[in-house]
Amino acid sequence: MLAHKRILLVIGGGIAAYKSLDLIRRLKERGASVRVIMTAAAQHFVTPLAAGALSHTKVFTELFDREAEHDIGHIRLSREADLVIVAPATADLMAKMAHGLADDLASAVLLASDKPVLVAPAMNPLMWANPATARNVAQLAADGVAFVGPNAGAMAERGEDGPGRMAEPLEIVAAAETRLAVAGPLTGRHVLVTSGPTHEPIDPVRYIANRSSGKQGHAIAAAAARAGAQVTLVSGPVNLPDPAGVAVRHVETAREMLAAVEAALPADAAIFAAAVADWRAATEAGEKMKKDGQAIPALPLAENPDILATVARLANRRPRLVIGFAAETENVVAYAQVKRLRKGCDWILANDVSPRSGIDGGVMGGDENLIHLISEKGVEHWPRASKAEVAERLVARVATALGPLETLS
Ligand code: C5P
Repeated sequence: MLAHKRILLVIGGGIAAYKSLDLIRRLKERGASVRVIMTAAAQHFVTPLAAGALSHTKVFTELFDREAEHDIGHIRLSREADLVIVAPATADLMAKMAHGLADDLASAVLLASDKPVLVAPAMNPLMWANPATARNVAQLAADGVAFVGPNAGAMAERGEDGPGRMAEPLEIVAAAETRLAVAGPLTGRHVLVTSGPTHEPIDPVRYIANRSSGKQGHAIAAAAARAGAQVTLVSGPVNLPDPAGVAVRHVETAREMLAAVEAALPADAAIFAAAVADWRAATEAGEKMKKDGQAIPALPLAENPDILATVARLANRRPRLVIGFAAETENVVAYAQVKRLRKGCDWILANDVSPRSGIDGGVMGGDENLIHLISEKGVEHWPRASKAEVAERLVARVATALGPLETLS
């Protein structure tokens, strides 16, 4: 897939830059040609000499370099690429991208580029968690930038742990393949997907949850990415890898999920596959609740926001297509029809999660699904299928409903 593709790799300043040297090799092994831009900060971690030796070409570092501009300037650098990869993407580089700054070669090329961009962030977990970074990431995703990682794990700083590690070179390669493979029916579209359960804390060690595995939502996000969409996946806690070529926002609670969804708008289509907890503990105990000698505690609940209904009723930023799921154990279609109207969404995918569905292991957590698609046109009964097939079918339907991309004439 990468054979004969022209990759422009922007290396930012972070300790993960050493992995970008391996990334150059991996890309070239697959037949891609690689041009490299290094920021000034990047050169504190790896040298242009090393990157040039691996890419077999001159490495670009200066915006105002008379020779380089004469030879191949920043406009040509971005023009002559099929894909731009930013790895590692520092918090600073992403902030510049989100705000359109262009005071060095890397940022100027990124601003001048109309090519697909794939970003592999790497930074300290606190920098990643900072609302400023979250705003920039949301903005970039809305602008059509694809993300891979960051992964959670130990950081270079001793004792630091959490999301912030750059994705591994092979993960970046996989995401690059997805991004390039995809001149598909959803190219140019931003699709937002929620997936998984939510965890609602009771005290520091206990929480309310449900049996959702996230398999269906993740399969939809992956299918939409393969169809060419820019995908933002807002996921509750799941035991699944992040799908390739998808910007994943990890959240715990329903309220965090709503905030991440709102931050990811605008979107052309939003698909709410998450099993959001309807209720949370009205108050979260600051310390672990003790059993010793205490009366059995009451657990007052508070209602969570309905993310689907909130987005479906947005005045300005409502996606054109808002799709919900309805897990029911009886009167599946009738309940789902009522739910479609109550929530104000366009389609509901109703599924029977009762043991009667006949699906081994049940729908929740299992690999299969039995869907009834409810829209204003009526009900469509889909055959029993794997969650991956359901995802493909849904994505194809979304593409048809959105129609061809409106291009400016
Ligand atoms: O009301 P119910 O939970 O059955 O509705 C299911 C649909 O609504 C799903 O698409 C689910 O993702 C969405 N939902 C939501 N926020 C909630 C509850 C449900 O987005 N708080």
